Amino acid sequence: MEIIHLSAECYPVAKVGGLGDVVGALPKYQNKLGHFSKVVMPAYENRFIQENEFEIVYNGWVKLGFKTYPVRILREKNNKLGFDLFLVQITGLMDRPNVYGYEDDTERFLAYQIAVLDWIEQWEHMPDLVHCHDHHTGLVPFMMLNCVRFRKLRLIPTVITLHNAQYQGQFGWDKLHYLPEFDLWNAGMLGWKEAINPLAAAIKSAWRITTVSPSYLDEIRYNANGLEELLSQERGKSFGILNGIDNEVWNPQKDPMLHKNFNNRTVESGKKANKEALCSVFNLDPSKPLFTFIGRLVGEKGADLLPDIFYNSLQYSQGQINILVLGSGDPQVEGRLEQLKEIFTKNYNTYIGYNEALSHQIYAGADFLLMPSRVEPCGLNQMYALRYGTIPVVRRIGGLKDTVTDIGDGGFGICHDQTSVWDVGQAIGRAYDLYQDNKRMKEIRKEIMQLDHSWDRAAQEYIDLYQI
Ligand code: ADP
Ligand code: GLC
Repeated sequence: MEIIHLSAECYPVAKVGGLGDVVGALPKYQNKLGHFSKVVMPAYENRFIQENEFEIVYNGWVKLGFKTYPVRILREKNNKLGFDLFLVQITGLMDRPNVYGYEDDTERFLAYQIAVLDWIEQWEHMPDLVHCHDHHTGLVPFMMLNCVRFRKLRLIPTVITLHNAQYQGQFGWDKLHYLPEFDLWNAGMLGWKEAINPLAAAIKSAWRITTVSPSYLDEIRYNANGLEELLSQERGKSFGILNGIDNEVWNPQKDPMLHKNFNNRTVESGKKANKEALCSVFNLDPSKPLFTFIGRLVGEKGADLLPDIFYNSLQYSQGQINILVLGSGDPQVEGRLEQLKEIFTKNYNTYIGYNEALSHQIYAGADFLLMPSRVEPCGLNQMYALRYGTIPVVRRIGGLKDTVTDIGDGGFGICHDQTSVWDVGQAIGRAYDLYQDNKRMKEIRKEIMQLDHSWDRAAQEYIDLYQI
């Protein structure tokens, strides 16, 4: 099959969170299964574009209202990622360093979606399927079905994967004229609660909907930032497919970012060396258990509670644990996390910002990874932690529920029910007790490193879904 993935992120071209990891891996694994899977994404002004070789495959224009922007589509020449990668350059809109966060994000992603369809519409053959990821590509299924100028694409099946239904990309009806001409009778397909809602439009228009874990599929019926009713109506065409991880990128035996490589036989000495290196950089005590949090410092991740959770645990444990945080997001949370450094100088530290290499080093060097998420459609961190022999301490929600079993239930992780200071504090206490049992810790580390969360399974599940 020829599959086109459309996404705002794709590792290592541009990554903000797990969406980038998924789109950087899934197509590669689909190609290993004998398919032709490609990624078409915006071209941002970043290192990837400066450091790699491209050829121009398309030149055109995109019009939004009264403004017209030049478009160029570039193909990466050396198949560096294990799949064909196309970057959509839109001068005046996409030629900026960041993926998101600009006032005109609506215009940016709308222009990208129109430009992609203008290009595909000119192909001599048609792809077998267009797979859209999140709301930035959510208008594509609608436009393929309804826009006069994309008539040729009407019969191509589309899939929308919901990586996170909290973000929907809504904008006002005053921008309706940005879309290429379509029969206004169908305008209702674009809307939800008095706005144009790209995610809702995708849910209504796509041939299939997927969520990134089976549990998240259940949860969005009662927690989807206003889309619950719509998602319940469309349940019949929805499927939950658990994400995988890229075992080639996330391989502690070969990972070039680690201080020392290790496998499940050398896990004890390997983790020890990585922990010592990390502790020396962050001024922590390697003889104490090391807890970590890696991620976006936002409400969905329970980040607002972290300062209180950490304060309590560090206070009660009387210096018997270490905590290291890597993340960025809400400035208030960042500030409070930084302040704790002044109180707990010897067993607490933070790195505020984004640092890919450091994240690998922490997965390798930590003992426990905390994920007290309020919402977690899948979560990749816990799977990376498992592969690097780090025990996840997670809330039982979404993909966390589908991937981590509590030690009390014959499993290998620590699970709690609520995102609350109390629940997470209790879970840290249980983890601390487990850490005292050296034999059990060793057994669990070996066991979790061997769990198979590779994309092989999920890549095939998507292919099966496309072929139903
Ligand atoms: P989400 O996509 O909701 O942020 P995921 O668990 O799916 O959550 O994926 C997060 C990804 O982003 C992981 O690869 C994680 O290691 C990475 N990540 C998050 N924050 C940072 C950071 N500050 N520095 C480096 N990597 C980070
Ligand atoms: C989203 C979700 C996260 C998921 C990721 C990749 O960012 O918040 O849970 O793992 O997408 O699908």
